[in-house]
Amino acid sequence: MGLAAERVIDELDRLIEKYDLSRHPLWVLANQGKLTKEQFSHYIAQRWWFTVEFPAVLAEIMAKLRRDLQGRRRLLHNLMEEDLEPRDHISLYLRLARALGWTEDALRELEEIPEAVAQRTGFLSLMGGSSLAECLAIGYVTEGQTPKYHWIPKEVMEGEYGLTPEEYEWMTIHCEVDTEHGENYKRTLQAYLPATERECREVLRKAEEGLKLMQLFYDGCYRYFILGRGRGIE
Ligand SMILES: [Fe+2]
Ligand SMILES: [Fe+2]
Repeated sequence: MGLAAERVIDELDRLIEKYDLSRHPLWVLANQGKLTKEQFSHYIAQRWWFTVEFPAVLAEIMAKLRRDLQGRRRLLHNLMEEDLEPRDHISLYLRLARALGWTEDALRELEEIPEAVAQRTGFLSLMGGSSLAECLAIGYVTEGQTPKYHWIPKEVMEGEYGLTPEEYEWMTIHCEVDTEHGENYKRTLQAYLPATERECREVLRKAEEGLKLMQLFYDGCYRYFILGRGRGIE
């Protein structure tokens, strides 16, 4: 059966459902308030380089929208929220990491788990080797689903972790803005849906790869910091 361009968005929504990270064991625990402060702290630290590098990836996608002023402005809106001081996401992330006991130097020197390296470098090369439509689709499925899972109950963050709302704003803000960030990719993608079935399938394949990389990262965090396995041969 042929895959018409207009079905691509429906298929991307199906992929978001298939890789719904709220069903990932790490996020099931987190959403139920059962992630310890130490486990949460390890997860945050492992996100450091991806958090730093992500806005640069977004800027590269933007640069591909040479004559599409409207599309560029949508992604610029996303980029400004990620990168514009003083409430840029890296500063908010650092505030949270510091409250959990990390210094910036410690984050820079942290040994990344293999899955964090694979996810970060895989995501960069996936985006680097993809067409504009493919990049927008990857952005839509990965950022657009963040608010579905990325949360820990307030009582846990404040009561058990001892964090203030200002300190965990990095978590709150992603539940607020990433639905819109995802929509901005989706609206822009609608103008670039490819003409052939083969290209449409490639858009879906790349989007699924992006989702698999996200899942890989959480698999690694779960294995290392919750199951306590992962170093060397077992
Ligand atoms: Fe962000
Ligand atoms: Fe975002």
